Amino acid sequence: MMATKAKKARVDVASLTKAQARVELTRLALELEANDKRYYQEDAPSITDAEYDALRQRYNAIEKRFPEFVASDSPSQKVGAAPSGRFKKVRHSVPMLSLDNAFAEADVIDFVGRIARFLKLPDDRIDFSAEPKIDGLSMSLRYEGGELVTAATRGDGAEGEDVTANIRTLEDVPQRLKGRNVPDICEVRGEVYMTKKAFLALNERQKAAGDTIFANPRNSAAGSLRQKDPTITASRPLGFFAYAWGQMSAMPEDTQSGMIHWFERCGFKTNPLTKLCHSIEELIAFHRTIEEQRAELDYDIDGVVYKVDRIDWQDRLGFVSRTPRWAIAHKFPAERATTVLRDIEIQVGRTGSFTPVGKLEPVGVGGVIVQNVTLHNEDYIKGIGNKGEVLREGRDIRIGDTVVTQRAGDVIPQVVDVVIAKRPKDAKEFHFPKKCPCPLHTDVVREETATGEEGSRARCSGEFACPFQKIEHLKLFVSRRAFDIDGLGEKQLQYFFDEGWVKEPADIFTLPKRNAKLKLEEIEGYGETSVRNLFAAIEDRRRIALERFIYALGMRHVGETTALALARGYGSWQAFHDAGIKLARDDEEAIAEMDALDQIGDTVIKSVAAYFGESHNRGIVERLTREVEILDAEKPKSNSKVAGKTVVFTGSLEKMTRDEAKATAERLGAKAAGSVSKKTDYVVAGPGAGSKLAEAKKHGVTVLTEDEWLVLIGE
Ligand code: IVH
Repeated sequence: MMATKAKKARVDVASLTKAQARVELTRLALELEANDKRYYQEDAPSITDAEYDALRQRYNAIEKRFPEFVASDSPSQKVGAAPSGRFKKVRHSVPMLSLDNAFAEADVIDFVGRIARFLKLPDDRIDFSAEPKIDGLSMSLRYEGGELVTAATRGDGAEGEDVTANIRTLEDVPQRLKGRNVPDICEVRGEVYMTKKAFLALNERQKAAGDTIFANPRNSAAGSLRQKDPTITASRPLGFFAYAWGQMSAMPEDTQSGMIHWFERCGFKTNPLTKLCHSIEELIAFHRTIEEQRAELDYDIDGVVYKVDRIDWQDRLGFVSRTPRWAIAHKFPAERATTVLRDIEIQVGRTGSFTPVGKLEPVGVGGVIVQNVTLHNEDYIKGIGNKGEVLREGRDIRIGDTVVTQRAGDVIPQVVDVVIAKRPKDAKEFHFPKKCPCPLHTDVVREETATGEEGSRARCSGEFACPFQKIEHLKLFVSRRAFDIDGLGEKQLQYFFDEGWVKEPADIFTLPKRNAKLKLEEIEGYGETSVRNLFAAIEDRRRIALERFIYALGMRHVGETTALALARGYGSWQAFHDAGIKLARDDEEAIAEMDALDQIGDTVIKSVAAYFGESHNRGIVERLTREVEILDAEKPKSNSKVAGKTVVFTGSLEKMTRDEAKATAERLGAKAAGSVSKKTDYVVAGPGAGSKLAEAKKHGVTVLTEDEWLVLIGE
């Protein structure tokens, strides 16, 4: 859509001839229709809302000038006159997070074991609510004074879309909570789904009317809900099961199972298969029973969910990054299908690593059409695993082979086996490239593993000089969890990059002042509104949280969680930057300081050192920091006495486990470190403390008993 800068200036609507208008209206209608389909039915929009709005505005403007062209099936008639964005955004008062997955029984045993250790309880003392995992869309319903006020989709977890008008058409969602004394604010969360029967019937109707066919009930539920016209939603039979909550001004119950019964008393449906389990054996048996019933159920499920029943224990367990410690999804085995491998292509990632991608003859696996599969690395294709073990009994993968593909949940589909009996005579062995497919044609090196051995992944040695890596870095830089610049998606970025307008992050921020020359508004499909919105979005991001900034730099091994740990550990960009420069010079004190941070080890230290050791990177960072203001890491919210202090736990604790102690310390704004240095403020030592206690004495660090620590934090 944007690839035609050559055709530059769009004709102003006022100067369009009638013939031009007719041609453009047809083209725009097709474009809008294709985008609506991607957005509403496939849930995979390929342009931003701003771009979509620009298309629609131009369409409406042309129609207004030439009313004789308004057809009954015109896009302006279908979605009402509103030219504006699709749905309003709603910020969730409590984030909507996701669940960690368990696939094997061993994962479930680990999960229960972790919880028992954390809570310092025998594992048979913990009850779990076991529930089917409905394959629909999660929804947050906000009730104020008992009345439904907002319904929002999950979105990215922090912000969803306001679909209140559509949700009001669902029979399973009460407009008003039943029962007396309901808390003033209640956010009820659960899953919107479409029954298999309704899905099949809807597809029949769609087919008869020549409309699009939905791939599975989940997609049809999503498509039916995200309609601008609620009467369409009303005509689609959608159900809702309540199973969780967000903000609550008071808690009516103190267990998960109690809450589920409370939802029922309020007028909600809850899943009838939900069961309270008292042991690991019962959890596993629940998984087996539900899997046996799966085919007969009238709605799709993709596993079961186990949740610690006691809510006070849920609170103590808390979250790791974006998933709760107190719940897990136990998935059903992945679905498989057989198809032909047509080709293998090499994808170059952000850090230059190569991933061979298998191009398949499209095949349906568990309701989704799969065309691309990851083949991991050179060894995997040959039938050798990461540790040198034999895979698929040594069967290698060749182009032309019939392969068995598997898709498990949201994981990228894989090839799990090769049907040798079907191998054609002309099946081609794949030769891994010795040179990067980038224009630099650099030599390929094998990536080092964390332990310094030669790993199985190949990488381009061109680093930042490799254009593939540059663009991947830029994509990460603008992505949701990094700078999150609205209106600058991968497509636009690629275009700006190809044109040479954005070569490094700082260039994004200089776009507005360079626009007198660039004239972005003249790019086909862009327009003044989109450019204005884009520049506003860029301005909006000139102030950025330290953890996002660190993450956005795209250092190897520094993901979101690590970036957050670094931001909290150093507090300010200046402090982190200085540490990075020192690390690059092998400064021992700087290494020890970073090593003392919780969750940070050798691999990250090496990676940060390598990043700051590279002058090209220092240049990128310097130019970027001239453009943006980096906010200090959020000060701990609590006014606790230990906020900002560094504490080390050693020896065995009696009232809580080490993990829980660390989590509590962090919640109160303290840093829980793994080793003692002169920067440590407290060492909490239990019986059996050894070298760390000695270190504390050496550095003159205050040593506390567990009880003294509890008094200090006021618990
Ligand atoms: S609990 C903090 N319970 O699974 C986590 N989720 O992977 C709260 N889901 O986004 C979620 N059935 O859409 C929970 N009984 C159930 C569920 C369920 C389906 C979905 C939900 C969520 C996703 C998490």
